[in-house]
Amino acid sequence: MLEKLKLWNNKKTTTGTIFTKEEVLSKTIPKHIAIIMDGNGRWAKKRALPRVAGHHEGMKVVRRITRLANELGIEVLTLYAFSTENWKRPKTEVDYLMKLPEEFLGTFLPELIEENVQVQTIGNRKEIPLHTRNAIERAMKDTAQNNGLILNFALNYGSRDEIVQAVKKIADDVKSGLLDHHEINEETIEKCLMTSHIQDPDLLIRTSGEIRLSNFMLWQLAYTEFWFTDVLWPDFSEEEFLRAIGEFQHRGRRFGGV
Ligand code: FPP
Repeated sequence: MLEKLKLWNNKKTTTGTIFTKEEVLSKTIPKHIAIIMDGNGRWAKKRALPRVAGHHEGMKVVRRITRLANELGIEVLTLYAFSTENWKRPKTEVDYLMKLPEEFLGTFLPELIEENVQVQTIGNRKEIPLHTRNAIERAMKDTAQNNGLILNFALNYGSRDEIVQAVKKIADDVKSGLLDHHEINEETIEKCLMTSHIQDPDLLIRTSGEIRLSNFMLWQLAYTEFWFTDVLWPDFSEEEFLRAIGEFQHRGRRFGGV
């Protein structure tokens, strides 16, 4: 009992306005929400559990937040699941993270198909283990006909790497005469990014109290509203997600205008 109480007290939630689903639905819903899901390791450490236990709990949160995002009519939910820098982690942790998409999709894919969700990814899929790639590509194929929420996993994704690839492609096109360098503009670059088919995020959420971008969607976040919370990703609740959207709905976006 005491142990349970301790765990409860450890669960850090932010205070602030509570927004109901109905309140949030009565205002403009952000079309694209991107999330840096941070704090899994710290969540596990607080409970004297291995770090991977935090990732496993985090996976369950992905399920709940995807359901809610779909119910709210959000068009794109981009989740930073594995960065190009995450390969530096211990092999056991990397191996575990690479197994999570299989576990997640193994149980959740039928619901995603049923609920009209499309699974997509950004990042370099070629470098991830075959078993992970197969699970993801099967889910992409099985949900390709859906036209509801795009559940977009950033997997082996790094924004600088994405920009380097875009610059190389543009340089190739100029060299081969397909493109005049005077014609290069923002649209040229956007078309070469991995997000060319989706709009920029309206709202970025980062959990765990870290206030940085960690090489995530550097180009795409130019006019995005940021929302940071101290809550660790495994503790991130539907209430917290509604709070982020509710607060977003009270901000004035000017996109550089007045
Ligand atoms: C950062 O927390 C989190 C990650 C690098 C992995 C995120 C992955 C999930 C939430 C599960 C994804 C699920 C699917 C279905 C792909 P951290 O480990 O850096 O936390 P710390 O800063 O507290 O150590």
